[in-house]
Parts: sequence; C-alpha cells; structure tokens
Amino acid sequence: MRTVKGRMERVTQRLRLRKPEPDDLDALFALYSDPQVWAPDPLSRHSAPAQTARTLDIWRAAWERDGLGMWVAHELDGAFAGIGGCFIRYGAAWNLGFRLLPAFWGRGYAQEISAAAIGAAAALRPDLAMTAYLLEGNDRSQHTVERAGLHRIWRGPDAGNPDPSAIRLLFADRPLPIDVIRALTAF
Ligand SMILES: CC(C)(COP(=O)(O)OP(=O)(O)OC[C@H]1O[C@@H](n2cnc3c(N)ncnc32)[C@H](O)[C@@H]1OP(=O)(O)O)[C@@H](O)C(=O)NCCC(=O)NCCS
Repeated sequence: MRTVKGRMERVTQRLRLRKPEPDDLDALFALYSDPQVWAPDPLSRHSAPAQTARTLDIWRAAWERDGLGMWVAHELDGAFAGIGGCFIRYGAAWNLGFRLLPAFWGRGYAQEISAAAIGAAAALRPDLAMTAYLLEGNDRSQHTVERAGLHRIWRGPDAGNPDPSAIRLLFADRPLPIDVIRALTAF
C-alpha cells in the first residue's frame, strides 16, 4: 500500500488499485455503458451517468462499512482498465467482481485483481467465504471466477432480473450453509 495524491493505493505487478472517488464517474460511465462489456447482460447496461453515480455511491458506502470494496484499476502508466475487487454482500459473504474495458481483456488483469482481493479479504475477514455470481452463458466471466479458485455451488433464477429466463450461478471458495446460499440468491 502507498499514498499517491492523498489516495491509498495497492500496487500489483501491472495495476494500481484504489478506492473509487467521485471524479472517477466519467471513466466508470464509459465502462458501464459499453455495449460489448454488457453483451451477456444487456438489460443491466447503464444509459445515463446518474445510474453509474448510484453504483459509485454504493461502492463508497461499502468501503466505509467494510474497510474494503471495489477498486478502480489503472495500468501503471495511468490508463483506466476497469474495476474489480470484493465487498461484503448482505453481511453473509465476500462478493468478488470485475469488469474491464474490452481493450484490456485477455491479459490476466481480472486474475491479478482477484488475487489482490482474495488476499485483502482474507486479511480482514477470513471467516467469510469468497463468493461470486454471474449469469449462465457469461463464459468469459465464469472461466475467470474458476481460475480464481471458486467452484459452482448453486444454480437458479436470477432474482430481480427483468429477464425472467436469466439463470444465476453462484460460486464460492468453500461449501456454504443453505441459509447463506438463500441470503445470497434471494435478491
Ligand atoms: C470477465 C472479464 C473481467 C474477464 O477478463 P479477462 O481478461 O478475460 O480475465 P482474466 O484475467 O481471467 O484473463 C484470462 C485470459 O488472459 C490470458 N492471459 C494473458 N496474459 C496473462 C497473464 N499474465 N496471466 C493470466 N492470464 C493471462 C489468459 O490466457 C486468458 O485468456 P483466455 O480467456 O483466452 O483463455 C472481462 O471479460 C469483462 O470485463 N467482461 C464483461 C463484464 C463481466 O462480465 N464481468 C463479470 C460479471 S460477474
């Protein structure tokens, strides 16, 4: 960890990871409105910056609450590559996620972010499982989650998805009690 311009940063082999700030909104909206990024889940793509601003507020609140959350990821030369990391979902488990601009796919960056997140979460709350969820058919994301060491533990309807045929897959680094699985899949 190091501080750059008053911001705490974590540096991995090829990326700088830090807590999202309000002035990241333009870069985040570009990511959250990118049709290629959202091809597996087009109904969740953002069409207005206000939607991304709400997401940013939720991430920043998670940082305040849990002491860890989603990072914005830049290459060491400064290029914005995407977001990733983990936050505590429903008080029940860590939730791992990543979303990169297409120009940065296929370089192992999601792996690099996942390894940093898994290490940071284990240092903070090792009692909580690391989980991830994704839509069935998002094969690229599924490969990434599996490469990060998570295994599929549940398959079912994607609660809250406007597409009623969407199927959610839940992955975890350990077996989970049924009440935790219910908490993670009910919404
Ligand atoms: C999901 C997503 C983050 C995966 O990105 P990615 O770059 O493919 O992910 P990884 O870090 O796992 O990269 C692995 C790939 O990089 C390659 N690679 C190249 N250099 C590498 C390195 N040094 N280390 C590891 N992998 C490397 C691997 O061979 C692998 O290629 P392959 O997929 O052709 O087999 C990206 O596709 C994305 O943002 N998708 C849209 C958003 C999304 O669906 N997010 C998940 C929602 S749950």
